[in-house]
Amino acid sequence: MADVDKLIHAALEAQTKAYAPYSRHPVGAALLTTSGVVVSGCNVENAAYPLSFCAEANAIGNMIMQGENQIAHVVIAGPGTHVCTPCGGCRQQIREFAGASGVSVTIVDHKGTVLLETTSAELLPHSFGPENLSE
Ligand code: THU
Repeated sequence: MADVDKLIHAALEAQTKAYAPYSRHPVGAALLTTSGVVVSGCNVENAAYPLSFCAEANAIGNMIMQGENQIAHVVIAGPGTHVCTPCGGCRQQIREFAGASGVSVTIVDHKGTVLLETTSAELLPHSFGPENLSE
């Protein structure tokens, strides 16, 4: 199976685990790391709404727990047929581990149909990252 198909499958699988009783907007995210490891995450909401976690953020937490910190490709699976583009906070979180030049970001619907192929640099132009910090 091609890497992207594996990632789409992992994102859809993660989406089935989403805890989204308040928004009813389940999201799954899968990351391929530069060393070929696939990690995933889903959104986890809370009755205190602002405490909810996005799927991408949870996938990144899982990546760090696997000892990985360089993203090669991101797949996000949203519900329905609207393009579930990552929120601003997730764009920044992805950027931290994707570098300034960016990585592929593929967004699929709940059936795995590709709705958008873009890059993290396109989603967050002129981004601020580790290289922008003064010594
Ligand atoms: N959500 C994500 O998981 N990722 C995003 O990038 C956009 C939004 C979640 C957060 C919340 O649980 C639900 O989708 C509705 O905003």
